Amino acid sequence: MKKTNKPFFVNVMTLFPDMFPGPLGFSIPGKARERGLWNLTTINIRDFASDKHSTVDDNPFGGGEGMVLRPDVIDSAIKSFYDRNHPLIYLSPRGRTFNQNVAKSLLKHDGISLVCGRYEGVDERVIKAWSMDEISMGDYVMSGGEPGAIALVDSIIRLIPGAVGSSQSLSNESFENGLLEYPLYTKPYNWNGLKVPDVLRSGNHREIDSWKQLESEKITKLRRPDLWNASLNRKESKEDYKNG
Ligand SMILES: C[S@@+](CC[C@H](N)C(=O)[O-])C[C@H]1O[C@@H](n2cnc3c(N)ncnc32)[C@H](O)[C@@H]1O
Repeated sequence: MKKTNKPFFVNVMTLFPDMFPGPLGFSIPGKARERGLWNLTTINIRDFASDKHSTVDDNPFGGGEGMVLRPDVIDSAIKSFYDRNHPLIYLSPRGRTFNQNVAKSLLKHDGISLVCGRYEGVDERVIKAWSMDEISMGDYVMSGGEPGAIALVDSIIRLIPGAVGSSQSLSNESFENGLLEYPLYTKPYNWNGLKVPDVLRSGNHREIDSWKQLESEKITKLRRPDLWNASLNRKESKEDYKNG
C-alpha cells in the first residue's frame, strides 16, 4: 500500500476536464474524496497549445485516418506538473491490460498521473520520451482515455484503507483471491418461486464458507478458465515450496 498517510493524488491530463470527477464524485470514490483519502487535479491539454487557434493535434505522418495529439503540446502539459516520482500512465488499447493486481501495485505509490488520449492517439515520441506506462482497459476501442481513467481510478480508490465500509467486503470480492465471487442473495427468501440456497440460512458459518468457496471455484472454472488455471498453478507452486 502507499508509503504515507497523505491523500492518494490523481492528476488527469485531458481535453475534457469537465468529465471529472463525473462518476468519481459519487458513492465510494465521492465520499472517499470528501474524507480526504484521495484528491484529483485535472490538467487541460488545450491550455498548452502554442498557437492562436489552440491546436493540439495534427495529421498523421505517412497518411491514414484521423488526427494525432502533438508531442510538443503533451510534453508542455506534462512538464507543468509532473515530478517523475510516480507513475505516468497513458491509457491506450496497446498497453498492458489493467486488472486488480495492477490496481494494487499502483496504490503502492503516493499518486498517479494519467494521460487521456483522443482522436487516433498520442505521438509515439512523447510516450517514449516520458517512459509512459501504457495501460489498456481491455481489448476494445473507446473514443478517449477518460472513461478508462475513471474506471482505473475507481478501482484503485476502493483499495485505499477506509474507503470501503468494512475491510471484509473487499476481501470477498472477485479477483481478491484469484477467483470470481460466489452468487449473492438477499430478501425476499422466495422470489417468484426461486428460493435462496438453504445453506445460507443455516447459521453454520463453516458450511457457509465452504459453500462460498465451492461456488467461487465453480463459476471461475466455467467462466474464466484462465483465472482458474492460474489459481491451480499458484496452489501447486505453494505445495512444491512447502515440500522443498
Ligand atoms: C479512438 S482511441 C485511439 C485508438 C488507436 N488509434 C488504436 O487503434 O489503438 C482514442 C484514445 O482513447 C483511449 N482508449 C481507447 N480505447 C482504450 C482502451 N481499450 N484502453 C485504454 N485507453 C483506450 C486512448 O487514450 C486512445 O488514445
